Amino acid sequence: MHKVRIGIVGCGAIGSSLAQAILSDFSERARLVALFDIDSRKARKLCRRLKHRPAVASTLGTLIRQSDFVVEAAGASCASGIAQRVISAAKDIMIMSVGGVLRDYPRLCELAKKKGSRIFIPSGAISGIDGLRAAGCGTIKKVILTTRKPVVAFRGVPYVMRKKLSLEGITSDKIIFEGSALEAIKYFPQNINVAATLSIAGIGPRRTRVRIVASPKINRNIHEVRIESTAGVIVSRTENVIHPSNPKTSYLAVLSALATLKGMLDSVNVGT
Ligand SMILES: NC(=O)c1ccc[n+]([C@@H]2O[C@H](COP(=O)([O-])OP(=O)(O)OC[C@H]3O[C@@H](n4cnc5c(N)ncnc54)[C@H](O)[C@@H]3O)[C@@H](O)[C@H]2O)c1
Repeated sequence: MHKVRIGIVGCGAIGSSLAQAILSDFSERARLVALFDIDSRKARKLCRRLKHRPAVASTLGTLIRQSDFVVEAAGASCASGIAQRVISAAKDIMIMSVGGVLRDYPRLCELAKKKGSRIFIPSGAISGIDGLRAAGCGTIKKVILTTRKPVVAFRGVPYVMRKKLSLEGITSDKIIFEGSALEAIKYFPQNINVAATLSIAGIGPRRTRVRIVASPKINRNIHEVRIESTAGVIVSRTENVIHPSNPKTSYLAVLSALATLKGMLDSVNVGT
């Protein structure tokens, strides 16, 4: 059986976890063939830790040539350019830095159609995307994301400072921001992926509403999604555990990428 050749771009928290999991869980159906990181020391370091060592590509182009399927786990500022190059080469891509491709998403979809490539976007740090996609086959009226974070998460955030929002000594939840996903992505880049994924899967960044709340009562990020549709009301709540090697990344985001890979490789697909 032909094994899918996987290349990983970005060898940080997500790229490293995925590399290890591909070797341990998917070796029957996939082969990790190449790693690329703008900081080549990171790619070499990850490579040394792996049981079956992939190639450390010296350029993105080399990695794309060696792979059938590319995982983008690099960053918002470069994600769109990486996706463009992978799809132009008629290869498949899984995009982790979803916020970075939001603006170019329609163009990338058009290109993928022309080239016969597939774009995979994992649910990431939220749940409820399955229901949202199903509801979208009918009519979705509203999508509201409420993100609650511990107060410390807002220290030094430019939007909070500019608005002179005082968070010292608060004893109950305080709404920091309410607006469209498009605005939320602009003002709170640290929430970019969740809001972008929800927008792409549902009714777009202008109509998706986002509320950001500072809470003195919690010590982890909690995302609540409320969907109102002709199929009924769907509510999901995800209390995230952080990734051990990057406190900005949720552990669920890595697992969701693995589940997406599994879905791509398996002959059976459960869920929407
Ligand atoms: N979809 C989601 O829900 C979700 C959740 C968490 C993180 N993410 C996103 O996934 C991406 C990776 O997250 P992470 O925690 O692994 O980050 P990280 O900072 O730990 O790792 C990123 C790696 O990419 C490398 N890199 C940066 N620019 C590059 C380029 N142009 N080409 C190649 N490599 C490059 C860096 O050197 C670094 O090693 C981030 O953009 C993050 O926002 C998405």
